[in-house]
Amino acid sequence: MRFFLLLLVTFSLLTGCNSSAMKATLPTYDHFLIFAHRGASGYAPENTMASFKLANELGADYIEIDLQMTKDGHLVALHDDSVDRTTNGKGKVFLYTLEELKQLDAGSWFNEKFPKRAKVEYEGLTIPTLREIFEEFGHDVNYYIEMKNPEQYKQMEKTLVLLLEEFGFLEENESDGKVIISSFSERSLRIMYALEPSLPLVKLQTSYEVKKSTKRTFNKISKYAVAVGPSYKFVNENYVKNAIETGLQVHPYTVDDPSAIDHLEEWGVTGIFTNYIDIYERNVHFLTECVYSLKPFKNEVVFFLCGFKSSI
Ligand code: G3P
Ligand code: CA
Repeated sequence: MRFFLLLLVTFSLLTGCNSSAMKATLPTYDHFLIFAHRGASGYAPENTMASFKLANELGADYIEIDLQMTKDGHLVALHDDSVDRTTNGKGKVFLYTLEELKQLDAGSWFNEKFPKRAKVEYEGLTIPTLREIFEEFGHDVNYYIEMKNPEQYKQMEKTLVLLLEEFGFLEENESDGKVIISSFSERSLRIMYALEPSLPLVKLQTSYEVKKSTKRTFNKISKYAVAVGPSYKFVNENYVKNAIETGLQVHPYTVDDPSAIDHLEEWGVTGIFTNYIDIYERNVHFLTECVYSLKPFKNEVVFFLCGFKSSI
């Protein structure tokens, strides 16, 4: 069985497609989606349970989780492939066992870096495993899972599929967008597609890839993915139009500037990744404050400063 699976994956990678498989689809959503980037990471330490819980409380449509893998094969939520930036430890994740990783404090850095948003309960938070996240939220939330650095981790895709299966996310009625899988790695997404074609996949794109994307690029991506995730700063109307015409949704990251939402929505983007789930309210709040503070100036000045520039 294992040998057969390996053959299938190898064949799919070589041919670039899985001809017998039905590609997943995403639902047509009735509103603009908010993907909670690393959880509610503007307000709580990214990729921690506190951040995911807050994102859920604030009404995010999806909780975005970055995945790395430990030395002993556990999937954990962490953005970087090293623990240096967001814990009190040092070194690559793949050099840690889960037990060792669990000794690290993944919350105090946030309190030090953002004293105005610091909370005592963030001290000593641990890096959660994907299993713990599934145990906490079950099927009550939608998950947007990014496979980070999959080339560094042996069988990351297979491990993820097995965990999704164990928690019942691969059953027929759950293959409609409850779990979305993304990656910057085309190779890894193709492996996922060969393993489990019912999972909706998203090809993340670097700014360089966004700038050189044509309809041909989107056609190639649409063979295995249902959406593209571009860096929003390089997205224009034509990019969105071409992607949509190819049958792909567009999910730009990471939009923390409220003034950027309106045109993205107009162009037909499905939703955005943001660190600030309340970005709409921030938009209204920002505009009100901005207009009020510039009252003595001419309308053109107010429009220019409040309409085109904002800060969180
Ligand atoms: O998944 C979209 C976005 O999260 C990709 O960028 O570096 O924040 O994981 P990054
Ligand atoms: Ca991510």
